[in-house]
Amino acid sequence: MTIEEVEEKWKARLERERKARKESERLLENKSAELYELNVSLVKKVEEELEKNREKELIVFQQSKMAAMGEMIGNIAHQWRQPLSAISSTASSNIIQLELGLTNDKDLKKSFEDILNHTSFLSSTIDDFRNFFRNEKEFSHFSIGSSIEKCQNILTAIIHNRSIQVVKNIEDIELFNLKNEFIQVILNIIKNAIDALSNIEDVTKRYIFIDAFREDNNVILQIKDTAVGIPDHIIHKIFEPYFTTKHQSQGTGIGLFMTNEIIVKHMKGSITVENLSTQIDDEILIGASFTITIPT
Ligand SMILES: Nc1ncnc2c1ncn2[C@@H]1O[C@H](COP(=O)(O)OP(=O)(O)O)[C@@H](O)[C@H]1O
Ligand SMILES: [Mg+2]
Repeated sequence: MTIEEVEEKWKARLERERKARKESERLLENKSAELYELNVSLVKKVEEELEKNREKELIVFQQSKMAAMGEMIGNIAHQWRQPLSAISSTASSNIIQLELGLTNDKDLKKSFEDILNHTSFLSSTIDDFRNFFRNEKEFSHFSIGSSIEKCQNILTAIIHNRSIQVVKNIEDIELFNLKNEFIQVILNIIKNAIDALSNIEDVTKRYIFIDAFREDNNVILQIKDTAVGIPDHIIHKIFEPYFTTKHQSQGTGIGLFMTNEIIVKHMKGSITVENLSTQIDDEILIGASFTITIPT
């Protein structure tokens, strides 16, 4: 081979390599344009999905509010039945006695006082419910004990009705947090305990234990019942929205979902559940136990 031929070959090779490089650069450019487009559409997709998710969350939130409202109205109805019928029977027996000329001022006064007592009770329950459903999310100082008492008052009729014994051991602790949401959480858990305990045949074995104490910088609240507990194969699902084992007319599956949201997202605490046994006299009773930890 002459030197020119070698040079010629070398040049041709360089030229081929240059072309190949150009070609791959072109391909690379195309590919990155494609990737860029893909990226843009992915970002859009993610944004769309996030938006859909936000909408879904809002719907679930509104549904949970409605469910809570429905439950509350049920409670009001339950609580109002007894005083309303007492008022009505006091009034009608007075009418009869007036007609028969059997009444005297002292009895009448007593009857009116009874009626006033009943109406003041009715009006205070309405205030409780109204405060409860105020929309403002305001932090305030409140005592754990009095919040738990409020819940008991709201549920008193049903607790009494189902022969449930509530055993409390509550340290006097003050929280600076969302009071109404805290009450809602306790109500949800106690309401579930009441539902579960109602299936226990032996009414002398229906207990709810409520303990509250301080540990480091936290408040620990434990609510435990004796209603057999939650089966192992569902216990990990109970905080999911819409999970319920109750009949459609009884359960929405939103209570514990909302409870978990409030504790974790709004109150910056945590909630766990387990089945625990409790010794009462010489019997061991098993039930669900919810433990809530809230920073003080
Ligand atoms: N104390 C309890 N004992 C037994 N099961 C419980 C208890 N609390 C909750 N559960 C279970 O968790 C499920 C979900 O509860 P929740 O979210 O409040 O919805 P709902 O009360 O509408 O069913 C209940 O259906 C029930 O199966
Ligand atoms: Mg419930």
